[in-house]
Amino acid sequence: MLEVTGLHVAYGGIQAVRSITFHVKEGELVALIGANGAGKTSTLKAIARVIDAVGGDVHFCGEKISRLPPHDIIRKGIALVPEGRGVFPRLTVAENLAMGAFVRDDKAEIAADIEKMYAYFPRLKERETQLAGTLSGGEQQMLAIGRALMSRPKLLLLDEPSMGLAPIMVQKIFEVVRAVAAEGMTTLLIEQNAKLALEVSQRAYVMESGEVTLHGESAQLLNDPKVRAAYLGE
Ligand SMILES: Nc1ncnc2c1ncn2[C@@H]1O[C@H](COP(=O)(O)OP(=O)(O)OP(=O)(O)O)[C@@H](O)[C@H]1O
Ligand SMILES: [Mg+2]
Repeated sequence: MLEVTGLHVAYGGIQAVRSITFHVKEGELVALIGANGAGKTSTLKAIARVIDAVGGDVHFCGEKISRLPPHDIIRKGIALVPEGRGVFPRLTVAENLAMGAFVRDDKAEIAADIEKMYAYFPRLKERETQLAGTLSGGEQQMLAIGRALMSRPKLLLLDEPSMGLAPIMVQKIFEVVRAVAAEGMTTLLIEQNAKLALEVSQRAYVMESGEVTLHGESAQLLNDPKVRAAYLGE
């Protein structure tokens, strides 16, 4: 479904992503893990066209998307939950969710999907009319995921959903990531929490200094001595 070939991202003289190649098949949950500064966020931003790549190609459902403007990426069915969440702080929870559906015009189904998001995240239901800017970090992460799902994407891009959250909150969020993936959502998950990412994903790529240095079945990577030493703190 997603094919990234030789993607290269630079900021001035800084080579953030040096020609990385990977793919995500329909229905898969694939993780991209790596240390701070490895180039994970830059990779996602280049796919979502929030930034320009210097080189390489991105194909989605067989179509080249690496030159499209960002709003076309959303219309093609790719939803990004950015690092730091990016909810609209002055809109309520319900308004944020509704905004996520701006590419749709099926009113009744949008309303049903909002209820579905509340079923995933009952906390959001309780805070329906609260301004998003006053939510806790974990609640904002839930809202950001809910808002992304409201576009009914074909591919969900998640940038470090666990960042800065207490373990209980991380657990809740990952329960939903798992549930959504189990319903067939194709997902690319970026995580610094390698253990968690490898536990929920089917396959994973390890990024170091802008390059993919290892990839394979997540269950195998979890047992790989190199991965265990470098990313699982053993
Ligand atoms: N806007 C920018 N301008 C200049 N350099 C940048 C910019 N954004 C990222 N970089 C640099 O690109 C490299 C990769 O950053 P990136 O954010 O992609 O890493 P990451 O793997 O997501 O890291 P983290 O786990 O800390 O989020 C880093 O060296 C970073 O300093
Ligand atoms: Mg990042």
